Amino acid sequence: MSTTEIAWLPVGKAGPAPYIGAMNVLGIETSCDETAVAVVNGDGDVLADLVLSQIDEHAPYGGVVPEIAARSHIDHLDPLIGRAMEEANLTWADLDAIAVTAGPGLVGGVIVGLMEAKAIAAAHRLPLVAVNHLEGHALTARLTDGVDFPYLLLLISGGHCQLLIVDGVGRYQRLGTTVDDAVGEAFDKTAKLLGLGFPGGPAVEKAAQGADSTRFSLPRPMLGRDGCDFSFSGLKTAVRHAMETEGPLDDGDRADLAASFQQAIVDTITDRTANAIAMFHAVHPVASTLVVAGGVAANKALRQALEATAEAHAMTLVAPPPRLCTDNAVMIAWAGLERFRLGETDPLDIPARARWPLDPEAAAASAGAKA
Ligand code: KG4
Ligand code: ZN
Repeated sequence: MSTTEIAWLPVGKAGPAPYIGAMNVLGIETSCDETAVAVVNGDGDVLADLVLSQIDEHAPYGGVVPEIAARSHIDHLDPLIGRAMEEANLTWADLDAIAVTAGPGLVGGVIVGLMEAKAIAAAHRLPLVAVNHLEGHALTARLTDGVDFPYLLLLISGGHCQLLIVDGVGRYQRLGTTVDDAVGEAFDKTAKLLGLGFPGGPAVEKAAQGADSTRFSLPRPMLGRDGCDFSFSGLKTAVRHAMETEGPLDDGDRADLAASFQQAIVDTITDRTANAIAMFHAVHPVASTLVVAGGVAANKALRQALEATAEAHAMTLVAPPPRLCTDNAVMIAWAGLERFRLGETDPLDIPARARWPLDPEAAAASAGAKA
């Protein structure tokens, strides 16, 4: 859309925003261990994309320490926003909205980002859009691949493992979820058991490369069962048993165990996804897009296997580039933009949320399972 074509449309800073061209949104993400800031415009151009990882600060503890994360966000967020605005070559007056993760996540970190976003919004009279971090992951494929609604979404991250029908912005129907650990959590805990380091997913993937994935016989929890729920805690326990049985492991043993674990995950996820495709087609018989999102979607073995699963069911797999699968602020700016152009903004007293399911009804119905 050219500038002249949109000239007759309202261009106010607040309220409904019915055009998508020339709209600049600043995105802020602080819900876990990445401090991230991005600027995205309504044409889907990424004008700035900065991610400051805290991996080195948390590595000595083998996992993310919430207090360290929150303090580190405080130290780094301000200068990172300054740099993002410089890279985007924009002034505050060029922005149309501020999008910020308001949950779910480590609430101390979420509060840091949300307070900063509220301060900017108040000081520069900009609309605020409070974004669900999971919706950020869920809508990324629309930015990267222009995917249309509806689609089937496999959301696999450090805190979540779900299959959902995505009917529109804010319209999610959860088909299945994990009854215990999230899949990223399983990667992280297994990496810790194997002494492979932190974060676990990339470490397991690296160790598994070229190793024998058939050497250790590990369970495939839920495989072959109806529905598309997941379970991973038994798999992690089986890895521990295998280690105890095997005795002291050398690097080759560790690599084979990592590969066997990764293969068990791949088999489980593809089995559950095949069931979800059938459930999706019962609702949307002709829709054909399977989107995979979240940090674990960066795993190449899993992407390859999902590609085959999609093809076998006449679906097309869309997987955003790994950098936009793991946590980032581009997805927050984009999800904010999607909501903003539907006229949705949030008040400055909106609270941070530790839990915030995409499908609240399904989450309430399965209290105890992860949202
Ligand atoms: O989406 P994300 O960056 O943060 C959350 O919202 O949780 O996901 C982080 C998770 C971690 O558990 C990490 O180990 C996992 O994604 N992960 C991977 C890979 N890269 C990141 N898991 C498997 N293979 C990978 N290559
Ligand atoms: Zn995430």
